[in-house]
Amino acid sequence: GCRICESVCELGRIKIIKGKAVVDEVACRGCGACSAACPSGALQTRNYTDEQIMAQIREATREINEFPLVIGFLCHWCSYAAADLAGSMRLQYPTNLRNIRVLCAGRVNPSFVLEALRRGADGVLVAGCRLGECHYTIGNYCALQRMNVLSKLLVDMGFDERRLRVEWLAASEGEKFAGIVKDYVEQLKELSPIGSELK
Ligand code: FES
Repeated sequence: GCRICESVCELGRIKIIKGKAVVDEVACRGCGACSAACPSGALQTRNYTDEQIMAQIREATREINEFPLVIGFLCHWCSYAAADLAGSMRLQYPTNLRNIRVLCAGRVNPSFVLEALRRGADGVLVAGCRLGECHYTIGNYCALQRMNVLSKLLVDMGFDERRLRVEWLAASEGEKFAGIVKDYVEQLKELSPIGSELK
């Protein structure tokens, strides 16, 4: 009942009724920006719950046999589609990236990034639609705000600022996607494995 989700839902699909958040599940489009904003974890997105995404993070970091290991959170509509296109175009890029698909970059809870780093990922890529082109209107602006704050926090905690990278892509930008992965992997190679920063 804190009303944060209500303020985040640009489409007005959440109402606080008798002190509790009530979602209009028929009209909800499922971006998940509300779930990422919910400070108590009470609000979950069907098929993209915190636990389901955390399980993917755990699996992606279960065996680390590549340096650097990058966990990517990609929005379904543009950046994931761009990754798909890079594959269809047979573009070559490093194998260090493990993608986790979310419907919108706005679904990326900062705790996902922290968990990926805590579990040994050397870098995290958060990628969504180009600003102004989010399929849920403002999800990528929500992500931008959160990742800006998180980035500063990570630096305060002693992490190199390159541990988190944020990118915006159109679905047609397969080449750009491959270029981003190549560039990010090269950047991370200049750092030590994350273990040294976690101590
Ligand atoms: Fe791609 Fe929102 S749908 S960032």
